[in-house]
Amino acid sequence: MKRIISAVFIIVFVAALAAACGQTAAPEDTSSVKETTASSKETVSVSAETSILAESRKDVLVVVFSATGTTKAVADRIAAYADADLYEIKAAQEYTAADLDWTDRNSRTTIEQNDKSARPQIGSPELSLDGYKTVFIGYPIWWGEEPRILDTFVEKYDFDGVTCIPFCTSGGSGVGRSDKNLADHAGSGNWESGKLLNHTSDADLQNWIDSVM
Ligand SMILES: Cc1cc2nc3c(=O)[nH]c(=O)nc-3n(C[C@H](O)[C@H](O)[C@H](O)COP(=O)(O)O)c2cc1C
Repeated sequence: MKRIISAVFIIVFVAALAAACGQTAAPEDTSSVKETTASSKETVSVSAETSILAESRKDVLVVVFSATGTTKAVADRIAAYADADLYEIKAAQEYTAADLDWTDRNSRTTIEQNDKSARPQIGSPELSLDGYKTVFIGYPIWWGEEPRILDTFVEKYDFDGVTCIPFCTSGGSGVGRSDKNLADHAGSGNWESGKLLNHTSDADLQNWIDSVM
């Protein structure tokens, strides 16, 4: 009788043990662990992105108009160092190579720059300046001045309470009257002197940013 009881006990024990091992090693469970890990990673990355978006409303903004990318490259460096948002002014009617031909008296840019009242349309989405305390404004020098589309931009927005910092790139000319022109056209904001940033090293760029912010 004892033997029968022992045998039954051993059979029940072995069966229970096999069931327990089976549960731990079940493939479904392993995948569910992986899924949980994957989904929690997703959650982490999604919430990180969300917080970056939520925090992207900073108080420093870099605005730039750039026809061939030189000023935009400087704007990107300023935005990275100053931890700023970036807004690119795009012309509603993009400037073609022919439009940018300064050797042509009849090119679009020559005509626009010769006409102080020209106000090329902006094609980029509306901008809200709410919350921005400092706005860097970058542009190339065209015929010794700011491109007229910059006049369109500064006349469109209210810079009250905002420190505006013009910067530019050129083929060699200086800032000229471009910074004063922008301040005059804007009619609001605290305007700093403009800064020419041709071939500026990281150290010089950062020193300048630190000095104006
Ligand atoms: C229509 C036009 C006019 C320009 N006028 C001048 C000028 O008066 N002085 C100068 O040094 N460079 C002048 N340039 C050169 C640009 O200022 C220079 O290449 C600038 O870095 C371009 O910047 P972007 O690539 O951001 O457009 C002119 C360029 C164009 C297209």
